Amino acid sequence: MATYKIALMGGDGTGPEVLAEGVKVMNAAAQRFGFKTETADFDYGGERYMRTGEVLPPNAADELRKFDAIYLGAIGHPDVKPGILEKGILLKLRFELDQYINLRPVKLLPGVETPLKDKGPEHIDFVVVRENTQDIYTGMGGLMHEGTPNEVATQTAVYTRFGVDRALRYAFECARKRNKNKTLTLCGKTNVLTYVYGLWERAFHEMGEKEFPDIKREYAHVDATTMWFVKNPEWFDVLVTGNLFGDIITDLGAMIQGGMGIAAGGNINPEGVSMFEPIGGSAPKYTGMNVINPMAAILAGQMMLDHLGETEAAAAIEKGVVDLLTSGRLKGLSVKEIKESGLSTSKIGDIVAENVAKG
Ligand code: IPM
Ligand code: MN
Repeated sequence: MATYKIALMGGDGTGPEVLAEGVKVMNAAAQRFGFKTETADFDYGGERYMRTGEVLPPNAADELRKFDAIYLGAIGHPDVKPGILEKGILLKLRFELDQYINLRPVKLLPGVETPLKDKGPEHIDFVVVRENTQDIYTGMGGLMHEGTPNEVATQTAVYTRFGVDRALRYAFECARKRNKNKTLTLCGKTNVLTYVYGLWERAFHEMGEKEFPDIKREYAHVDATTMWFVKNPEWFDVLVTGNLFGDIITDLGAMIQGGMGIAAGGNINPEGVSMFEPIGGSAPKYTGMNVINPMAAILAGQMMLDHLGETEAAAAIEKGVVDLLTSGRLKGLSVKEIKESGLSTSKIGDIVAENVAKG
């Protein structure tokens, strides 16, 4: 029987609560599909930082490398200055573990309301492949004359051909594997960021021509992309883009698929250990109240099992979520609507786990 070693990082705010539901559902899937999980808890997050003064222990990445995957709740604490935990934990792990892909499916599940008028699940089903280790996120740059009227600040978008090529290859392969429209759209800004997105564009066409003649190549500027997400989301199959643009457009993607409560993502190192997370953040004001929607965390677990090769179990989790969404038991996905439906974080986890167990 396959056994997967999973590192659990609940993190801050409501992170641990939603992760617990994800684990509950993962265990139900393991039971039904005949695999095992061995979990270990890591307490990285704001509380630990405030207690110890240390954001991450120096050996954190090495410890985490011993696992088959990392399952993350959320990072971000209201009492810690913005940037410390995000850079010190989330970005640090993405970089140290070389999780060079941030995979963010944008899929409107049946039963979920989208703010887009006249759009349904048949229109909203695409994947954003966000490069996850380069760009302006490298932190290259600096300040001069800080705090004076002559202050200068720079922060540089850095791209290597190697980094662009490996992200592109993953995206082309993703388009091939999805087998939907067999289309990959490069989202860039070649009219202004001529150096970095010029590199992306050249690499995109070279690789496409040579290695992926079966995949249609399209291009959209990032500003226009936000427009198309709202106007014609059905045009997209797989998008590939840089780190910063990917960050921005996937928040919009999350909204059109029903909100932060349902959007999941994976930080992927195809050759190493990957980390799966709900992308919505820690929602600290709801901590401990058992009111937040755990579906994004549950679906992050689905992505994790899919990544580990447990594709049937992953499909069963999605079905388990959809069965609840279409059951009429939920008035909506907001905290208010979850309460009005007489449901809770743990109750939603229970129902999805039951759905998964019985199939
Ligand atoms: C995300 C987040 C992070 C990012 C922050 C918290 C550093 O917004 O995962 O999208 O910018 O990548
Ligand atoms: Mn973001």
